[in-house]
Order: sequence, then C-alpha cells, then structure tokens
Amino acid sequence: MTVEALEALQQAEVIVGYSTYVKLVEPLLTGKKVISSGMKKEVDRARQALELAASGKHVAVISSGDPGVYGMAGPILEAAPDDLEIVIIPGVTAASAAAAVLGAPLMHDFAVISLSDLLTPWQTIVRRLEAATAADFVIVIYNPRSRGRSEHLEQARQIMLQHKSADTVAGTVRNCGRRGQEHSVTTLGALAVDDVDMFTTVVVGNSRTTVLHGRMVTPRGYML
Ligand SMILES: C[S@@+](CC[C@H](N)C(=O)[O-])C[C@H]1O[C@@H](n2cnc3c(N)ncnc32)[C@H](O)[C@@H]1O
Repeated sequence: MTVEALEALQQAEVIVGYSTYVKLVEPLLTGKKVISSGMKKEVDRARQALELAASGKHVAVISSGDPGVYGMAGPILEAAPDDLEIVIIPGVTAASAAAAVLGAPLMHDFAVISLSDLLTPWQTIVRRLEAATAADFVIVIYNPRSRGRSEHLEQARQIMLQHKSADTVAGTVRNCGRRGQEHSVTTLGALAVDDVDMFTTVVVGNSRTTVLHGRMVTPRGYML
C-alpha cells in the first residue's frame, strides 16, 4: 500500500471492497461504514460505490495491489457518470511485490498475463502466452490456478516449454507482503504446479535470467 492510499482510507467515510481485502485493512477502518461483498461482485461494488459517492459521501473502493491492474479502477470508470470526482490511487502490483521478493527478475521487458478465463476466452490467453514466450519476454502470471481451473497453469507451462528451455529460471511468491508469505526459486521444468494457488504470482524468466546469491536476476546488459 502506498502512503497516498493509506491517507485516502483515513479520509474516507465509506469503504467498499471485496471481503477478503477489507479484512486485511480492518484495523484502519474503525468508525467507518464498511460495505463488503464476495468474489464476482465487482460490478455491484462499483455501482454501490458510485451511488454512495453521487449522494455526497466520501467513498474509498479497495482493490489489492494496484487498482488499475485487473482491479476496480476499470469498472468504476466504465460505470461512472461524467460529473463525479474520481481519484485513482496507484498501489504496488503483485508483479513488483513478487519481483522484489524473488530478486530482480523484471530488469528487462516483461509481459503480465492472467490465466483467468472468467472474462477472457482461454484461446486469447493461449495466443498471448505463445506470443510472449516466442518473443522471449519474462512472463508474470496472475490468477495462475484456482480450484475451478486447476489445469490452466500446467497448460501454460507446456505452452511456454515450446519456446523456453526447461532450465529457464522461474519463481513463485505466495501471500506476498502478507502474513505467511512464502516463495520459491526453481525452473520452468521443475515448477511445482500443484503448490500454486490464487494467492500466488508466478514469474518465468527470459533466456538470460539466472540465479545469483539464491535470487532470480534478469540481466539488464551492464558489463559487471
Ligand atoms: C485479480 S488479480 C489482482 C491483481 C492486483 N490488482 C494487483 O495489482 O496485484 C489477482 C492475482 O494477483 C496476484 N496477487 C495479488 N495479490 C497477491 C499477493 N499478495 N501475493 C501473491 N500474488 C498476488 C495473484 O496471482 C492473484 O491471483
């Protein structure tokens, strides 16, 4: 969370958010009206927040990481009327937070790909994975694996193996920045797909990514 986001929470009268994320900031919400709801209720949350703001309330909508990266900034702007003041406060997206835990894997061009096919056809996801892999991008995978689609990460791994060597360095970070944070540095060939869940971000290196001091590093090209 950025200082700006903390200040926005402190100033807001009403907090709207996904219940899991609301719980994470509960100690900061004393005395505020809190409206929380479950997964797949993003559109309802956006509408509720906009209605409350239009009625004159100072409302803060919570996303995890950065609200503009698979977060609530999009649906809020899509549903908003023209005359409402909306401020989007950047946060630390999982790619940056996970990269810091793993070392420095994003020192060169990278692509972020979500494996969630709830709103995106799986064929589109496959095409993007193939293109990013063929172009030797470092690939950051969000929404890697849920109970409902446990096979997606393994399918993605097989696609990446068509262009990336099995020795390509890969890392996982679970519960990044939260209690119980854990991480591993491994290879694409040995990636423990079954240990990955929706609270995990997976980072797959490019052909030059290496392991230094136990950390994942993608060289920028400096002569060191
Ligand atoms: C719908 S996306 C939301 C991304 C979020 N807006 C952001 O900027 O990080 C959810 C995915 O982000 C990743 N993620 C979010 N928070 C995480 C955390 N604390 N640790 C590891 N991965 C996380 C996971 O891959 C998760 O499935």
